[in-house]
Amino acid sequence: MKEQLNEIKMSYSTHYRTHSCGELRAIDAGKEVILCGWIQKIRNLGGMSFIDLRDRYGITQLTCNSETNVDLHQKVQNFGREWVIQIKGIVAERYNKNSNIPTGDIEIMLTEVTVLSVSDTPPFTIEDNSDGGDELRMKYRYLDLRREIPKNNLLFRHQLGIEIRNYMNNISFVEIETPFLVKSTPEGARDFVVPSRVNNGEFYALPQSPQTFKQLLMLSGYDRYFQIVKCFRDEDLRADRQPEFTQIDCEMSFVEQEDILNTFEGLIKHIFHKIKQIDIDPIERMSYEDAMKLYGSDKPDTRFEMQFVELNEYLQHKDFSVFNNAELIIGIVAADCGHYTRKQLDELVEFVKRPQVGASGLVYILCNEDGSFKSSVDKFYDQADLQKVATQCNAKKGDLILLMNGKKDQVREQLSQLRLEMGTRLGLRKKGTYKLLWVTDFPLLEWDEETNRFYAKHHPFTAPKPEHEALLESAPEKVNANAYDLVINGTEIGGGSIRIHNSDLQKRMFRVLGFSDEEAIYQFGFLINAFRFGAPPHGGIAFGFDRLCSVLSDYDTIRDFIAFPKNNSARDVMLDSPSTISELQLKELGLKL
Ligand code: AMO
Repeated sequence: MKEQLNEIKMSYSTHYRTHSCGELRAIDAGKEVILCGWIQKIRNLGGMSFIDLRDRYGITQLTCNSETNVDLHQKVQNFGREWVIQIKGIVAERYNKNSNIPTGDIEIMLTEVTVLSVSDTPPFTIEDNSDGGDELRMKYRYLDLRREIPKNNLLFRHQLGIEIRNYMNNISFVEIETPFLVKSTPEGARDFVVPSRVNNGEFYALPQSPQTFKQLLMLSGYDRYFQIVKCFRDEDLRADRQPEFTQIDCEMSFVEQEDILNTFEGLIKHIFHKIKQIDIDPIERMSYEDAMKLYGSDKPDTRFEMQFVELNEYLQHKDFSVFNNAELIIGIVAADCGHYTRKQLDELVEFVKRPQVGASGLVYILCNEDGSFKSSVDKFYDQADLQKVATQCNAKKGDLILLMNGKKDQVREQLSQLRLEMGTRLGLRKKGTYKLLWVTDFPLLEWDEETNRFYAKHHPFTAPKPEHEALLESAPEKVNANAYDLVINGTEIGGGSIRIHNSDLQKRMFRVLGFSDEEAIYQFGFLINAFRFGAPPHGGIAFGFDRLCSVLSDYDTIRDFIAFPKNNSARDVMLDSPSTISELQLKELGLKL
């Protein structure tokens, strides 16, 4: 313990300071110390002045007495918030101890003060409950980062990164950097592009992920690769999306899906154990098909049940044309909500009608305590009909059944949003509870109505399940992949797959995706060629590092874990970027004649 403390001291002690502002305790009373930091607060009480001095490690109270040191007392009267000072003084035990801070048992009786830097009045208070709004704090992000909450979030991110690197290193993964100036790889989002000065008229793309590079590294024989790496995607922002974000990108050779899931389940267990002191259960698994059927989502929040029940059979025998014409009728049970008032039910109807959900309406059945039912479709269904629905849904007296109908995919998506809303309203999405889920057996392809073609559900390098390979051209919609996602509390934290490692199969895949052979060679010739030189079977996964930070800390947005994030319009308001560039730059880049 003693050596440890010495070590800490050694690391703080420089020519400027002997200790940090978070370090001194009653046991240090009598020591002469030198501290540096920012002035958090100054209080003058009669002949006494008190300064709270802050650095990354904490806050220490400095005290100055006009009776014992008139000049110094006079000097500190002119200091302001956020000035940077260096002080010398003697550690003293306090009479009035402050149990709220670790240094609360001591104060420093000042003997010397040097001003290292003055500060303008900061645009907001550097405190937990800052008076600065979001935009203002983003504009002055470097000041915001002085606050305790953002600071702790960055330290958390750092710690998580260290744990991940240690774990990966211990199981023989090597971290290898891959380039940022690359060629576009189609992974669903738009590319950020960078014009080339040396090759006018040509562009690099910033990587959406290092996907092709990590596959090439497998070919080069680095059978366990990882990288904590920036990725760039020009897509619309959401709470869990940034245009530049960080992945824990991983790839392994000579593995099957099971090997990958086991390896990374180990990593996730380690993270929970080290960072949250939680020993998680073996991660449950669910096929994509079941996830869609039971939760209407490929990233269900399984902290609560409220599974979908399919009810066509029970509701399509009466005169209610809305249900009769529906491809799918599904319901959920909100336990103990049978007492909902008209107003509460109307709120739910409004919720599903919002453009973000886009449903035309909602049918409800209140299961009364006396065993009777009251529904919004009483005109069409009698008590016996409603009883059958309630039995099928496993609803009990006092519950509320919510029904939606429509085209299969659409209604599932809509009810999924209502399910999450009910989960939130009923307090079922508890902070501090973590439910992890592997979603497996994703379809290989996804049909897009607008462009009338198939897209890769994961990416074009994902292998079809061997038993489905023969269907690739004849029934592409039936082909599943060994592709998997890790979901925590309803957030997609990671995704990966077993890859194609054979150039003929890769060419077939590109054809199914609508690439001519020439286009495929132009875009991916390097990869198709590489596969001719001894490609090992391989697969991998990438986790969203920012998302992992926010989910583990129960935050709704990843911005809080990024030192300098973009705002909702993809702008850096501090740099005021993106910005225009000079005529000269445009000319050099061949973007202007
Ligand atoms: P995928 O596209 O699923 O897979 O991305 C992996 C994980 O990265 C995170 N993520 C994001 N985080 C913040 N902002 C974004 N805009 C963003 N986009 C994605 C998510 C996601 O699960 N190359 C493949 C991986 C592989 O196959 O090995 C890939 O990038 O948490």
